[in-house]
Amino acid sequence: MLSLSNVHVHIGKLHILQGVDFDVGTGEAIALLGRNGVGKTTTLRAIMGLARKSAGAIVFDGKDLARCAPHEVPRRGIGYVPQGRGIFPNLTVLENLNIGLPGRRDALREEYVFGCFLRLKERLRQSGGTLSGGEQQMLAIARCLMMRPRLIILDEPTEGIMPRLVSQIRREIRRINESGVSILLVEQNLETALRLCPRVLLMEKGTIVFSGAAQELRSQPQIAHRYLGVSK
Ligand SMILES: Nc1ncnc2c1ncn2[C@@H]1O[C@H](COP(=O)(O)OP(=O)(O)OP(=O)(O)O)[C@@H](O)[C@H]1O
Ligand SMILES: [Mg+2]
Repeated sequence: MLSLSNVHVHIGKLHILQGVDFDVGTGEAIALLGRNGVGKTTTLRAIMGLARKSAGAIVFDGKDLARCAPHEVPRRGIGYVPQGRGIFPNLTVLENLNIGLPGRRDALREEYVFGCFLRLKERLRQSGGTLSGGEQQMLAIARCLMMRPRLIILDEPTEGIMPRLVSQIRREIRRINESGVSILLVEQNLETALRLCPRVLLMEKGTIVFSGAAQELRSQPQIAHRYLGVSK
């Protein structure tokens, strides 16, 4: 459903993405891993039209996203939860949830989303900035779900979050995927990635250097060690 071919991004004189190729299939959950600064976030931003590509193609459901303005990409069915969450601290949970949605409130959808995140339901009128880090992450995911995406892109959703909420967020991501939504997950945590995603991409210096089954990384720890510097 999403396909990147030979995507290049230059920022100033820096050649950040140097030919990125991968596909995400319908209903698939796929992880993108790599050390700090290799270009993971830039890849996601390129998909969302927030980083301008200098070459290559990004196609979603058969349509080239190049002709899409950044605000149109979510309407095409791609939800994006950026690194560092990006919720509005001075708006309430409910206001954050509905921001950017046109027209009347979608009560049915709200109910569904709060059903996923009961912690948020108990905090409807609390301002976003007073939520814990993990709750803010849930709110960012919940807001994304309001748009009924077919693919959700998450940039390090469990970064800096306490373990108890990490497992809750993991569970929700799995449930979202089981409901038929495709997932593209950028992760630092190899274990989280392997648990949620049957297929894994490893990135180094702006290109994909490994694409394979999570099982392969489990059985060949030297691959992860080489590209991530971890011994799993
Ligand atoms: N707007 C920008 N201006 C200048 N350099 C940038 C910009 N955005 C990204 N870069 C550089 O591009 C490289 C890739 O950044 P990116 O954020 O994609 O890395 P990342 O893989 O997401 O890293 P992390 O794991 O730390 O989040 C980095 O060296 C970064 O400094
Ligand atoms: Mg990043």
